[in-house]
Amino acid sequence: NKLVIIDTDCGIDDAQAIMMALSAPDVKILGVTCCFGNTSLENVCQNVLRVLAVCKREEIPVFQGLGGPLVGATELPKDHFGSDGLGDILVDRDPDWRQKIQKEHAVNAMIRLVSENPNQVSLVALGPLTNLAMAVRLDPGFPDRLKDLFIMGGNMEGKGNVTLCGEFNFVTDPESAYIVLDEFRCPTHIATMEYCCRNQLTWEFFQEMLNQDSAAARFMKLLTSKCWAYSPAAMKTKRDVHFGPGFVSYDSYAMAACIDGTVVTKSTECGVHVELQGSVCRGMMALDPTDMLQKPHRVVIMTECDLEKFSRLLAKSLRQP
Ligand code: BDR
Ligand code: CA
Repeated sequence: NKLVIIDTDCGIDDAQAIMMALSAPDVKILGVTCCFGNTSLENVCQNVLRVLAVCKREEIPVFQGLGGPLVGATELPKDHFGSDGLGDILVDRDPDWRQKIQKEHAVNAMIRLVSENPNQVSLVALGPLTNLAMAVRLDPGFPDRLKDLFIMGGNMEGKGNVTLCGEFNFVTDPESAYIVLDEFRCPTHIATMEYCCRNQLTWEFFQEMLNQDSAAARFMKLLTSKCWAYSPAAMKTKRDVHFGPGFVSYDSYAMAACIDGTVVTKSTECGVHVELQGSVCRGMMALDPTDMLQKPHRVVIMTECDLEKFSRLLAKSLRQP
């Protein structure tokens, strides 16, 4: 079995990625650690519980992590995935959700779970990297005991999806992204914004996937029903040419790479740097293929994806329980 910890700011694509891990027969999820990002930390915790409940996997422990970035104010997006991060379905939330969250802090849980299974755990990070940065500050040896790390975040060509030059997960906490990319010396695989957008899928596939007869597919249909990011018409007007008009489930690309490495058909290894200053560049990732910056280690940047394999994993994730 592959042992996995999922760190998430559970929006709609995170939910899809979590369901992908739940549907993989050889993956054992040791825990889900929550971080602010797409929505408040409290909403994220409730969203994760909701996803696990829909898939009848409530035995998986959920931990509450950090509610804001290491530096600066917490700014949450206003309407990206609705006010609750899951397309405004907050209405039927569980009033007792707090009792279902583990008492242990997410960062302590990450460190403990990895110490109990040294060099066996894959960490999949789907939101701002705040919990991970805190983990390496608390326990500098933490990354050395990880098997590997998969990140959805950052960009490679200076184009952003939330600011002119920055991708959401990195812009939301640039200092944490900087710390993680410099200090996590374990094998690190990054699904950048461009990788996800270039390997987008068609809306026809999206509809087919939602029309499957299962609780997970009905749930995903509900989440995406009012959300502009899942409306082909809205995407045509909101998105510009470099993103294209298709359907992009960002976080699922990082999860797919963890579940089945052969989904990534081409990648490049290089040093990377996260900009911490600048009015339009803060949070931007820059690639350093010739090691000009002498960065402490190199990361694997995914560039090409086996779309057939990837779409099979996505469709399967909505075929449960
Ligand atoms: C990332 O930002 C979030 O909105 C998504 O969940 C994904 O992790 C894409 O830039
Ligand atoms: Ca996310």
